[in-house]
Amino acid sequence: MSKSKQPNQSKDQLKDLWPGQSVELLKALHIVTRDGALNADSRRKLKQVLHLVQVLRPSLDRLFEETAAVRLADLGAGKSYLGFILYDLIFASKPDAAVIAIEARGPLMEAAENLARLSGFDRMTFVSGNIGEVSLDGKIDMVTALHACDTATDDAINFALRHKARVVALVPCCQAEVSRQLEDQSRHPLHQLWRHPIQRREFASNLTNVIRALYLEANGYKVRVTELVGLEHSLKNELILAERHQLSNAQARGELIALLDKLPARPALVADFPAG
Ligand SMILES: C[S@@+](CC[C@H](N)C(=O)[O-])C[C@H]1O[C@@H](n2cnc3c(N)ncnc32)[C@H](O)[C@@H]1O
Repeated sequence: MSKSKQPNQSKDQLKDLWPGQSVELLKALHIVTRDGALNADSRRKLKQVLHLVQVLRPSLDRLFEETAAVRLADLGAGKSYLGFILYDLIFASKPDAAVIAIEARGPLMEAAENLARLSGFDRMTFVSGNIGEVSLDGKIDMVTALHACDTATDDAINFALRHKARVVALVPCCQAEVSRQLEDQSRHPLHQLWRHPIQRREFASNLTNVIRALYLEANGYKVRVTELVGLEHSLKNELILAERHQLSNAQARGELIALLDKLPARPALVADFPAG
């Protein structure tokens, strides 16, 4: 394949991915180069974010049916790819709705704020801070956390509960907390399940996500756990999508307590749960 053909092919790939999106925005986010090229990494990232936006759309539509003033918080936002694309495709045409990005790395929030100003995205705000410590004024209808590292996904769950979010969409990232706890459990009768580090990481990741989903259920959410897109990020490809329909769920709470009782590890997310 000759290099000179790549930009046009990339433009076609872009049209396939999502017709009508702002190529200028994607250039500013460095997803697409100035001449319209899209490398494999960017394509994968963009495909994942666009697919996530599509998956989130029905939940967002339901929120917009109830109020025009939907507020979405994207946590561990990084460069705010997800927030920008959600805004460009959905929020820009909703004059009362807002996107708030929260990210620990201040310079990323400053850069994103500049880009939002240049793009005229005046209902996007950026907060530099720790998810576990930020409390926003007013309601938050929806929380997203795409690949928020390790326990930052748990901080996102607690943030959602603190702000009474109706919808929570999590794509968890790497897992270290439970993996460390399992490492100390070398005498447990089931220790073969986590003896080898690579298997321990995957097992810990699974266990953590099972607990996260059940914890959300116990807090009154209806939870769906699905694959996000493709297999290229096998350990980072699980989507936990939760919509709140009641204040709490005693049966799920009971199941979680019973499960935790059998487990040799306990993430801080459920530290306060009673022993079974
Ligand atoms: C792997 S990046 C993902 C960024 C973005 N969501 C995306 O998918 O492109 C994880 C981001 O979460 C941020 N982060 C991790 N823990 C955090 C915390 N407790 N509070 C705020 N941000 C956090 C990191 O600084 C990093 O930018």
